Order: sequence, then C-alpha cells, then structure tokens
Amino acid sequence: MQPLQLSILAFCLVALCQTCQDTESSTTTKDWWETAQFYQIYPRSFKDSDGDGIGDLNGITSTLEYLKDLGVTAAWLSPIFKSPMVDFGYDISDFFDIQPEYGTLDDFRNLIKKANELGLKIILDFVPNHSSDENDWFKKSVKREKGYADYYIWHDGKVNATTGKREPPSNWLQAFRGSAWEWVEERQQYYLHQFAVQQPDLNYRNPDVVAQMKRVLRYWLNEGVAGFRCDAVPVLFEVEPDENGQYPDEAVSGLTDDVDNRNYLKNELIENRAETIDMAYQWRTVMDDHQRIYGGDTRVLLIETYAPPAYTMQFYGNRSVKGAHLPFNFNLITVPASNGVSASSIKTAVDNWLLNMPAGRTANWVIGNHDQRRAASRYGVANTDAMNMLVMSLPGASVTYQGEELGMTDGWISWADTQDPAACNSNQNVYEQFTRDPSRTPFQWTSGNNAGFSTAAKTWLPLASDYKTINVETELAASSSHLKIYKALVEMRKSSKTLQNGSTKYAVLSEDVFVIKRSLSNSPTIIYVANLGSSSVTVDLRELDKTLTSSLILELCSLNSMKAVGASIETKNLELLAGEALIFTSN
Ligand code: NOJ
Ligand code: MG
Repeated sequence: MQPLQLSILAFCLVALCQTCQDTESSTTTKDWWETAQFYQIYPRSFKDSDGDGIGDLNGITSTLEYLKDLGVTAAWLSPIFKSPMVDFGYDISDFFDIQPEYGTLDDFRNLIKKANELGLKIILDFVPNHSSDENDWFKKSVKREKGYADYYIWHDGKVNATTGKREPPSNWLQAFRGSAWEWVEERQQYYLHQFAVQQPDLNYRNPDVVAQMKRVLRYWLNEGVAGFRCDAVPVLFEVEPDENGQYPDEAVSGLTDDVDNRNYLKNELIENRAETIDMAYQWRTVMDDHQRIYGGDTRVLLIETYAPPAYTMQFYGNRSVKGAHLPFNFNLITVPASNGVSASSIKTAVDNWLLNMPAGRTANWVIGNHDQRRAASRYGVANTDAMNMLVMSLPGASVTYQGEELGMTDGWISWADTQDPAACNSNQNVYEQFTRDPSRTPFQWTSGNNAGFSTAAKTWLPLASDYKTINVETELAASSSHLKIYKALVEMRKSSKTLQNGSTKYAVLSEDVFVIKRSLSNSPTIIYVANLGSSSVTVDLRELDKTLTSSLILELCSLNSMKAVGASIETKNLELLAGEALIFTSN
C-alpha cells in the first residue's frame, strides 16, 4: 500500500471511531438495585422437590446457596400464584395464594426466610393487566354482582348491517392469535382479553380495580418481597369508546398477511397509552410508602415493556414524579439475531438505550427471558461468553435468565409435547414460529437423570439435549467453563468501582468487533472487546481511544480464547478468534 493510501485508511479508522459515545455516570454511592445482578427464575422449570416433574418453591429454597455462590443480588420469580396454568401462571385465579403444585404460603415464607439469611432478595412477578377467567372476580363480574360488574372490559358488540349477526366490538387481536374479544352467553356481552381467552383484561378505568391491585402489591410486600417485575404493562389501558359507545378498529400494519397474528394490526389503540405510565407512577408510590412505613431497603419496580424508546423511557418518571426503578431494556433482545449477531446491531441497541435514557437514571441490560429463544441459540453458541461479558461491562444493572450462566440452549419440543398457548393456538406445521417452550425446558443441574431437575419419570417439558455437558455440576468441576466465567464477571462487577461508576465509551471496530471502555479517575480502566463475527480478525484497540496504553492486562477471556489470563497483551495487532471476548484492565 502507498503512503497516501495508508493515511487515507488511518483517517477512515479514526472517523469510524468518532461514532462511539461517551456517557458519564454519577459517582455518588449507588443504591442496591443500581448495580444489582438480577436473576430470573422460571419456577416451573428450576428445581422439583417432590418428584412430580414440576419445579416448586421448596426446590427453589434448596438452591438458594447456588444463587448466593453465583453472586446474584436478587432473584425474580415468574408467577407462583394460584392458576389454572393456561399461560403457566400468567393467568392468576387467586392473587393472594400460592399455586398448590408449587407449594404453600408457608413454603413461600420459608423461602423468604432462607433468602434473608443468605442476604438474597426475592422479587415477585406482578401481573396487573389480567386475571384468570377462574378468578372469583371474573365469575362475579360475569354475574354482574355488586362491586364487580365493571371489573373487566365488557361490551355488547355490534350488529353487522348485512348479516344482522352480532360481531365483536372491534377488530382487535390478542397476543396468542385470534380476536381479543370473547362472547359470554351468561352475561350476553363480550369481554376483552389481550392474551389468551382465559386471561380477561381488568378494567383500569374502575377505581376499585386500581385499589385492589395495589392491595396485591402491599400483601406481598408485607410478606417481605424486595419488589416486583410488572408483567405486560404497556397493554394496561386501551382507548376509550367513542361518543356512540363504540371501540374504533385498529389499522392494518402491512407487516403480515396472517389475519390472526397480532402483528397484522398496528395496535396503536390497545398499547402504549398515556394513562398506563401514570399507573406505574402510582405503584412506585405504593413501594416508597411501604419502605417509609416499615423501613428496610428500597423496594424495586421493574417494568416489562417492549415499546419504542419515547414510551419506555417515560416509565423512569420525570423531574416531578418518580417512576419505575428500571423499565426493562430489551434492545439487545430485539436486535436482529438468529444464530448470530452483528457488532453494529449491538451498538444500535446500546445507543438506543443510553442516548434516550433521562439523565441520572440507571441503565439495565437483558439478553433473554422465558418468552424468547435462549440467548446462546439466538446470538450463536460461540458468542455465549461474549454476550454475558457484554451485559456486565455496560453501565447499570443486568438481568440473567436462568441457564444463561451455563450457556443453556433451546430444547426441541415436539408438537405432542408442546405446552405454550402461543404455540397450541397455531398448528403442527407452524407452531415452532410461535412456541416459547424451547427456553422453558428444565434447568440443568447435573449430567444425571433429568439433569438433576426432578426424580419424576417424565418432566413437564422434556430436557434440552445438551444437558450432559451444559450443567452446573460439570461446569463447576471443569477448570474453565461458561459458569466460571459468569461467576468471575459478577465478582468483577461487584468489586470494580469503574464498572459501577465509570464513564462509558464504545465503538464498532472492523465490522465484527464491539469494544467498550469504562473509565473512572483513580480506578483501573476496563476494556471489553468481542469478535462477534465468524472468522478471526486483527484490530487496534487504540482506534477506540488513542490514550490507551500500548499493552493491557488480560483479566478474563471467553472459553474459546487461547490467551492466558494475567498476560500482558499488545493493544494494537490484537488478534481475535470468532466469538472470542476479552476483558482487560489498565492503570
Ligand atoms: C408477558 C409474560 O412474560 C408472558 O409469559 C405472558 O404470556 C404475557 N405477559 C401475559 O401475561
Ligand atoms: Mg414439584
């Protein structure tokens, strides 16, 4: 290459680097949740104590030492309340009691007690949008019993002028395919259900419902929980009926021809309404009041929201009102990724959170949950450590879905074994597009029978096929493993002031490489670098930051790396294998 070409190339590299962002975070002492490692437990699939093939509370209690050893701060349990299990606990028939398959209230109290002894916090799933159709509230509402007649969203429907037949009030679609309206013969009206038919939507324009759901929050706060993950919040309110008492139709989105798929419509009238944000602020007041009255640590509010940033960010609150501590950041989940992910899409995901977040708030990072395919399957098994290292190198809190620390992958579930209503409402030919079962297979504790999850002859979902190698026992015994890397990461985040309080700069280098620099005065600088592509590449880390020292100390590396932890490595000419991720420090 001629000198002129070289200097043009050097100029281009610097220009690329200017796309990186610098975000300052405050150095004041952080509250527990701001640097927390949250861990999501899907109770049905974590640990079965009584041999029925279904995970339960005593099972979870028996594994708390494992969570402690991982370094987790707080465990969020997906719903454990009484439920006919149409949507595996997200259809609650009694908000004040425990699902018998999972145990009793005493078992729950025992779990809280043991968690307290170990210094672990327990967070519950709050499902405000709907109940089960087997809930007494719904049964009373069907009968128009006093006080319950308007607990749900009821409507007469409309009469088709041509056929003379009664039809649903609007074209709205539910999340699990088909109409969002269901006719009830007894009441001679339709009710709204944004999810399954058996999950009627509560009516938040009824103050009794608002008060009742605050009672639910207080009830579990009184049992000693540290906060809530709030389910499906953006669908809490729908548009009000027009002056004729009719609900307007949603416009067609153009995204799919499948008329039963919710994406067929734009869903602008049934999601992301302003009133919903205010309800989250009201729940925050419930949490703060509880802490003020009874003392103890901050009770946290985490909001589930898949929505555009302009909406999601409002949950944080504003200058005059406090909102959720953390609206979940699903940007890393919604980036295009199926068996691979690009460095530029990671950068977009990070930008979309950090550049939109109101000043002084805490970011958070999530790569999986029980509604998504497993992180290792989505981003590619080779990128397992790179992704775990990423979420723990970025500023703020992060959330691990059970098994991500092991690199668990999707299980394959036949149509006959399929359980998820999102899949069961489709058919044998297409169910795999909709099913959430693959990420809900039993947690892998050992390489033995049922991966040590259960002694049952048959578990509620079959195990993922890789359990003989991907499990706690094997990974703890190995000299290096995804699990050991995960533990080292949590430890690093807990002890590093730079990771907790440092400023953040990041960039894409050479197409497939994502790099982050965290720095704080009087504290070692931390550099994360990962090659998310499928072939090796050589980069110069000083393209991110010219002030970097010529060599860096390797603190941690992915399982697929050949480098040695503790080695001093040259900043330029850094060769990275496909999927290789490294964390360096420099003084
Ligand atoms: C979101 C939950 O994560 C999902 O599992 C559930 O089906 C819906 N909300 C309805 O509650
Ligand atoms: Mg059990």
